[in-house]
Amino acid sequence: MYAIFLLFASLGFVMAQFHQDTYVIEHDRIEILKFNRSFVRRPDFQVLYFNDTVKMKALNASGYFIAPIQNKVKMEVTVYRFVGGAYRVFPINVTLDGCNENKRNLFGLQSIYQYTNFKGCPVPIGYLYLKYYLIEYEKFPPHVPYGKYKLFMEVHANEGAYFIGNGNWYGSIVPKRKD
Ligand SMILES: *[C@@H]1O[C@H](CO)[C@@H](O)[C@H](O)[C@H]1NC(C)=O
Ligand SMILES: *[C@@H]1O[C@H](CO)[C@@H](O)[C@H](O)[C@H]1NC(C)=O
Ligand SMILES: *[C@@H]1O[C@H](CO)[C@@H](O)[C@H](O)[C@H]1NC(C)=O
Ligand SMILES: *[C@@H]1O[C@H](CO)[C@@H](O)[C@H](O)[C@H]1NC(C)=O
Repeated sequence: MYAIFLLFASLGFVMAQFHQDTYVIEHDRIEILKFNRSFVRRPDFQVLYFNDTVKMKALNASGYFIAPIQNKVKMEVTVYRFVGGAYRVFPINVTLDGCNENKRNLFGLQSIYQYTNFKGCPVPIGYLYLKYYLIEYEKFPPHVPYGKYKLFMEVHANEGAYFIGNGNWYGSIVPKRKD
């Protein structure tokens, strides 16, 4: 779950200077593969419709953090695109220092903070949630190829010493309807 905060907070920062009006990002599902029970319990992600009128899918996430996570949270993202019947590595791998990016993000796009009780590093002990978060796809870079994507994300903390968790995001880049 922490991965998703970092991903969107960091993408938010990185992408803040972009603008595009040709595609939308659709969430399909998020699966948690492994997580470290010494840090987090009952992590959960949901892809859900925002409401009846806004036909966009939003993200819910939650989890209980039982140990503090200090700075130097590193997230590695591997991007796969579905081509020829299989997910194939797309030539973009991103490694982020989650806490640094988050601090810098405070000066840029902050919208994710309106949807969560997460206020930045160090990650506090207790219940954290992300509630009906709508991704701001118009702030992503232009010319991303349409298609189905998978993002594998893995988070380590304390200078890479501790494994926190990993999982996959599945979704699509689809042409924006002009109507
Ligand atoms: C859905 O959300 C939008 C944006 O917040 C709001 O304007 C609209 O009234 C909501 N519709 C319903 C049925 O709740
Ligand atoms: C990205 O990471 C994957 C998995 O570790 C690796 O197979 C791939 O070669 C990497 N791609 C680049 C562009 O570094
Ligand atoms: C999404 O999160 C909100 C707030 O925590 C909660 O009220 C709602 O039931 C959640 N929806 C789903 C489908 O989990
Ligand atoms: C899980 O976190 C604990 C510290 O709370 C650490 O000792 C352990 O090595 C971590 N597990 C893995 C697989 O990194």
